[in-house]
Amino acid sequence: MSAKKSPKIQKDHSAELTAVHKPSKEFSKKARIPSMAAYEKLYKHSIDKPEKFWASEAKELTWQKPFSKVLDWKAPDAKWFVGGKINVAENCVDRHALGSRANKAAIIWEGEPGDKRTITYAQLHREVCKFANVLLARGVKSKDRVLIYMPMIPEAAVAMLACARIGAVHNVVFGGFASEAILDRLEDSGATAIVTADGGWRRGKVVALKPTVDEALKKYGKVTNIFVVNRTGNDVSMKSGRDHWWHEEMENASAKHEPKGFDSEHPLFILYTSGSTGKPKGILHTSGGYLTGTYATCKYIFDMRDEDVYWCTADVGWITGHSYIVYGPMANGVTQVMYEGAPNQPDFGRFWKMIEEHRVTIFYTAPTAIRAFIKAGDEFPDKHDLSSLRLLGSVGEPINPEAWHWYYNKIGGGNCPIVDTWWQTETGAILISPIPGATPCIPGTATRPFFGIDVAILDDEGKECPPEVQGRLVIRKPWPSMTRTIYGDKARFKKTYFADYPGLYTAGDGAKRDKKGNFWIIGRLDDVLNVSGHRLGTAEIESALVAHPAVAESAAVGRPHDLKGQAVAVFVSLKLGYEASPELESELRNHVGKVIGAIAKPDDIHFTPALPKTRSGKIIRRLLKELVTTGTISGNVTTLEDMSVIDHLKSLLAK
Ligand code: WT7
Repeated sequence: MSAKKSPKIQKDHSAELTAVHKPSKEFSKKARIPSMAAYEKLYKHSIDKPEKFWASEAKELTWQKPFSKVLDWKAPDAKWFVGGKINVAENCVDRHALGSRANKAAIIWEGEPGDKRTITYAQLHREVCKFANVLLARGVKSKDRVLIYMPMIPEAAVAMLACARIGAVHNVVFGGFASEAILDRLEDSGATAIVTADGGWRRGKVVALKPTVDEALKKYGKVTNIFVVNRTGNDVSMKSGRDHWWHEEMENASAKHEPKGFDSEHPLFILYTSGSTGKPKGILHTSGGYLTGTYATCKYIFDMRDEDVYWCTADVGWITGHSYIVYGPMANGVTQVMYEGAPNQPDFGRFWKMIEEHRVTIFYTAPTAIRAFIKAGDEFPDKHDLSSLRLLGSVGEPINPEAWHWYYNKIGGGNCPIVDTWWQTETGAILISPIPGATPCIPGTATRPFFGIDVAILDDEGKECPPEVQGRLVIRKPWPSMTRTIYGDKARFKKTYFADYPGLYTAGDGAKRDKKGNFWIIGRLDDVLNVSGHRLGTAEIESALVAHPAVAESAAVGRPHDLKGQAVAVFVSLKLGYEASPELESELRNHVGKVIGAIAKPDDIHFTPALPKTRSGKIIRRLLKELVTTGTISGNVTTLEDMSVIDHLKSLLAK
C-alpha cells in the first residue's frame, strides 16, 4: 500500500462540489444542439412524436429496403422499422470505405507492449469482407451463434462486424471470464463457432485465451470451428479440422463480399449480464433499431464529427464496447483509438500519453478508473499535453463529485463538458445524459433523458414520485435499441422488465429527480452488485461458493469501496469436518475466480457458523449488508429466527 491517502469518495456534497457547469459558449456554438432551449424543443417533439423522431434518425442510415412502418408495439414486444432491410456492417464499414472516408483511420490501435497499428476504413472493409468469407466457407450461416473471446485487438471488432455482415449472431464473452462462464454461455446460446486468440497482453503478462476455451469445450461438443488469432505466441493446441489459425484462413480469403440486407428485427447479438439468479441473462439485441439508437446517441451525446479522435476505454466484452466502440462510432464514421491493455502499464501515465500522442478529442471512461488515477497521483497527467480533448464521458455507476471535479479539471483542463451517461446492457444505448452543448452539468447526475426517451420515477403503487423522493426508474415508451428478449427465456424477460408496472420497462435502478428535472441514479434495487462498473449477481457468487466441497451455505453482499464503488463481501458457513483457515480463505477466493472470473473474487470472506435467516429459512441479506457497511445493525430484526447469529457476526466484524 502506498502512503498516499486514498481519495474520499462517499459523502462530500458541499456546494463547491455540486456546482453547475454550463458548457462554454465556444463549445455550444459548434454543437449540434447549441442550447437548453434547443434541447427542450427537440425533446418535446421527440416525446410528442417519437416515431417521427426515430424515423428521421433511422433514415440517416443506409437501408437496402426502406421500412414501411416505424413501430409495432405490443408490450413487451417491440418491432422497429418494420419491413426494412439493413446490413449493420455495411453501415459501419462500407458506407465509409466506399465513400469519402476510405483513407480515414477507423482504428488507431495500441497493444499493451507498445506495438501500434492504424487501420483505415478501406482496410477495415477488406478485413471484414475477408473474415465474412472465411466464416461462410466454414459453414457459418445466418442466425448461427458465434462466441467471441478475444483480447482488445482490432480482430475483435472485425469478427463482430463479419458476423453482423452475414447475419450470424455474436456473443462476445469478456476475456477476463473463466472457462465455466464460457461453458454456460456456449450451452445457453447453442454456439457452433468460436473466434478467439492464443492470448492477450494484460499487466505485462500473457493472458491465455485459447487454453481457457479448450477447457470449456471438454464439456460442450457442438463447436465445429474455432478461429484463433496469433497474438502472443503462447503455446496452444490446435485440433485438426476444427481449429484454424486466423492468418492462414485470411490469407486465401477473397476481399469481395456483397452485404445482404437483413430484416430490421434480425438478431444482431446476445450479450450475457448478471441478474438476480445464479444464471446470467442472454440479452438479445436486433439490427435496425439497435444501430439507430447507438448511431443517434453518438451523434448527439458525443457530438461526433469527422475531425474527432474518439476513445472509449471499455472492453468489447461489455455492452459499452459493443455500442460505443464498434457499432455507434463506426456508424458515424469516426476515427477511434483502441487499446489492448491495463491503464497502469507501464505506469499510470499510459492513457494520458496516448491522448497526447493521438490527439484524442473525445474520451469516455468509467468512474472506477478515474478514482484509480486520482490515487496514483497528479504527476502522471501533469506530464502530458491533454489540450486536444474537448469532451469527456463517464459510464457504469454514478460519478462521485470528487472524481467528477478531478476529471473535469485535471483531464479536461476545466473546459470540457462531462457527459455522465446512464444506460444498461438491456437499453443498448444511452438513455439519460447531458447533451454537451446544451445541458448544464452537475457532478453526480446523469441529468436529462435523451430524445425520445420517456423516463419516470414511480413508487410501489405506480404513482410518480414528487421531486427529491426516491423511487424506481422506469421507461414509459419503447425505444429502438431496447433489448427484445432474454435469449431462450421470454418468460424471464417479461417478469424481469415488464411485470412491476404493466407495459413499462423497469430498469432495476433506484433514482430520484430534483426540482430542475435532473435524474440522480442511486443504484441497483435488486441483488446485483456494481463492482468497478460491472454487474455481478450475488446469487452467481453464492452458487460458485456452494459448489466448493467445504461450503455449506453462503451469502454475498456489497460494501462501499473507495476504488471499485462496491466490493464483494461474502459470509460462508462450512460443512462439518472443515475448518476456517487463511488457506481455505484464499482457496475459496481463487475458486470463485475460476468459476466466474477474476472480477468476481470476494474482497472479504467471513466464516460464520450460521447466517441470519427468517423463520422460513430465507437469508436476510439486508442485515449482512448493513453489517459490512456500518459495522452494526440498527434496523428491524424481528423476523430473525436466531438473534445470537447477529451478535456473533458483530463480534466477528469487530475483530
Ligand atoms: C447498470 C447497468 C451501461 C454500460 C455499463 C454498465 C449502472 C450505468 C450509470 C450512470 C449511475 C449507472 C446502473 C445500471 N449505471 N451507468 N451513468 N450513473 N449508474 O452496464 O453492466 O448493464 O449495468 O449500471 O445501475 O442499471 P450494465
